[in-house]
Amino acid sequence: MTDKELVSEALEARKMAYAPYSHHAVGAALLTKDGKVYRGCNIENAAYTPTNCAERTALFKAVSEGDREFSAIAIVGGPDNAEHLGICAPCGVCRQALNEFVDAKTFKVILGTDDPENMKVFVLSELLPLGFGPHDMAFLEDYKA
Ligand code: THU
Repeated sequence: MTDKELVSEALEARKMAYAPYSHHAVGAALLTKDGKVYRGCNIENAAYTPTNCAERTALFKAVSEGDREFSAIAIVGGPDNAEHLGICAPCGVCRQALNEFVDAKTFKVILGTDDPENMKVFVLSELLPLGFGPHDMAFLEDYKA
């Protein structure tokens, strides 16, 4: 799966966004190491705080289906009436949620747009430097890497 293909999966995911309050529609596509793609969209709520971001929707779908090994995520987002999309970076909570399951030094975060030639590619550690993760909990006796 190429970066461009993963971005186009994220654009498909974005079509399902439920964002009646912010009108900011986000789509994500999370790639497993064995080539499966989990799509996610943001899901808002009238009480606001229960809102779930697109990235975590994709992550929680994957983990709840038994997948825990990931190589990349593509993210696209912008106003739901936008003619063209700019880059949309993941929020801090989503960076942290992803950090639980990936090697931040190699996991790719692909920030796409509606233009296949316009994307920015990072690894998670660039977006979450000095992140706190499972290894910081290794002192726990029952911790298993
Ligand atoms: N949102 C995401 O889905 N992902 C992010 O990383 C940033 C924010 C959503 C949450 C909310 O529904 C809307 O965008 C505005 O914050």
